[in-house]
Amino acid sequence: MSTIGIRSVVVGSVLELVLDRPERKNAFTSAMYSKLTEELNQAAQRKEIATVLIHGEGGNFSSGNDLKDFLETPPSGTDAPVFHFLTAIATFPKPIVCAVEGFAVGIGTTMLLPADIAYAADTARFQLPFINLGLVPEGGSSLLLPRLAGSKAAHEMLLFGEPFDAHAALQYGLINQIVEQSKLLEFARQRAQLLATKPRAAVLEAKALLKKSSEPELLNHMRVEGEAFIKRLRSPETTAAIQGFFARK
Ligand code: COA
Repeated sequence: MSTIGIRSVVVGSVLELVLDRPERKNAFTSAMYSKLTEELNQAAQRKEIATVLIHGEGGNFSSGNDLKDFLETPPSGTDAPVFHFLTAIATFPKPIVCAVEGFAVGIGTTMLLPADIAYAADTARFQLPFINLGLVPEGGSSLLLPRLAGSKAAHEMLLFGEPFDAHAALQYGLINQIVEQSKLLEFARQRAQLLATKPRAAVLEAKALLKKSSEPELLNHMRVEGEAFIKRLRSPETTAAIQGFFARK
């Protein structure tokens, strides 16, 4: 296990970033966001890295932002580590592949939207529970989700905040493919390695073209969402909902 909650390993030309805080179902701390941002910014420059693969340790992708952190050290501005991470993933020039098993909650789901490719285990469980916590969507999800899933499905996911399975995630366009859980990581590794064998300059240019027209709008939207999110974090509903989560047992 890593002390910061992020492990990184380079396999061939693929940088694997592992969310490694299994005792909290890989809930993100500020230190984890900062480490991921640093890794992504370095990987953008490292010639030997062609592709990034992100996955979780211990059978889950991520249970979202650490709720204790939300209570005790909430982000105070859009320069907080979580927003640097979301910007880093949205602007990363090389392909990002995500392999999702178990829970993918909150940012564990929204980070899949600006990422390029996502595979999920048949047992994966997704949820965008912001509304239940008195919060608003983040990570560009209020812009990207209606485009991917359609307006009605996006409203349902974001306004009810209910969990949904891998089949729904596939139907909504959040993931590329469902893979049997025991084969997921190996499959995602093979796909990431395959991407790394493609002509590098063409991959970079193709990805830039895929994102070019939508990126400025996405970054602006993420900033607006971030400001609304920070305000909501200070609301009494949010404090009560988070306290309720910790009091549930
Ligand atoms: N922040 C902080 N701690 C978290 C956490 C989070 N986001 N998610 C889980 N944990 C902790 C739990 O408090 C628990 O700690 P404990 O063993 O000291 O009691 C431990 O991780 C295991 O989680 P648990 O809730 O027992 O697992 P579960 O399988 O019953 O449920 C989830 C898994 C992900 C459905 C549930 O933990 C959950 O809803 N987490 C919060 C998700 C969330 O709202 N994220 C923020 C979105 S903005």
